[in-house]
Amino acid sequence: MAIRHYLQFTDFTAEEYAWLFERAAVIKKKFKAYEKYHPLADRTLAMIFEKASTRTRVSFEAGMYQMGGSVVHLTTGDSQLGRAEPIEDSARVISRMVDLVMIRTFGQEKIERFAAHSRVPVINGLTNEFHPCQILADLFTYIEHRGSIAGKVVAWVGDGNNMANTWLQAAELLGFTVHVSTPSGYEVDQSVAGVRSNASYKVFADPMEACRGADLVTTDVWTSMGYEAENEQRKKAFADWCVDADMMKVAKPDALFMHCLPAHRGEEVEAEVIDGPQSVVWDEAENRMHAQKALMEYLLLGRVAG
Ligand code: CP
Ligand code: NVA
Repeated sequence: MAIRHYLQFTDFTAEEYAWLFERAAVIKKKFKAYEKYHPLADRTLAMIFEKASTRTRVSFEAGMYQMGGSVVHLTTGDSQLGRAEPIEDSARVISRMVDLVMIRTFGQEKIERFAAHSRVPVINGLTNEFHPCQILADLFTYIEHRGSIAGKVVAWVGDGNNMANTWLQAAELLGFTVHVSTPSGYEVDQSVAGVRSNASYKVFADPMEACRGADLVTTDVWTSMGYEAENEQRKKAFADWCVDADMMKVAKPDALFMHCLPAHRGEEVEAEVIDGPQSVVWDEAENRMHAQKALMEYLLLGRVAG
């Protein structure tokens, strides 16, 4: 099988996503039944973190062990990556020793350069521009709770960031609509998001209007990793972009609430929403592991049976 990378959401087709969601459900069921499933025995995943993580680290690491494989964990501070070894050289070396690489870093171009020099599949564990593993898990969670997302409306309230960009890619590929509301100056940029047209998203100045009639309301931190210097300025700009009970009320009565986490209650979301009955954030976090196990299985073994 030719090497496939997962660097952005558009790297797979709609048909491949259908397969991944099906496999994630099968793999999750095995895990819940304590059924041993070791298709990745003797395989090694290298995880490179240039930014902090809880969910991504635990979900990839636990997921790889559960599938019989092992992991190597590297950070900028404890590897030569932090001492200016060229990314291309790091890719050549690391990919001769492991079967799969997951990278969390800053610019998307960095992960693309790594992938271009890697002998093994590379997975984007978050960049400034994209977070495809998170949207993979979010969609799997939506499907588990509500069925197909095709034709549905997702309200995005907050920053035009890596999560927003990836939602736009998913909407264009899988046939749903994103209602985007960001403060001015923090809009999504269609060229950065890498979507072909604006047909699958609508921009709203008022976050309440973005939520009206939505099937899913979702948000993210006001300040993403790497943008900490803008924190104070962002706190002022984003004050009205807090998902509250009134926003959930204008969404569909059975609307779900999601947040990739970590969350800041009282900033981008009120506690009564994230801790309320429409919130599925804990399922969403858990599903990172099941969805990524399906992803790793697919990248290393293709379409397996059983
Ligand atoms: N949602 C997410 O990627 O969380 P971590 O930053 O904890 O990995
Ligand atoms: N947009 C956030 C997501 C964290 C999981 C960030 O990039 O920091």
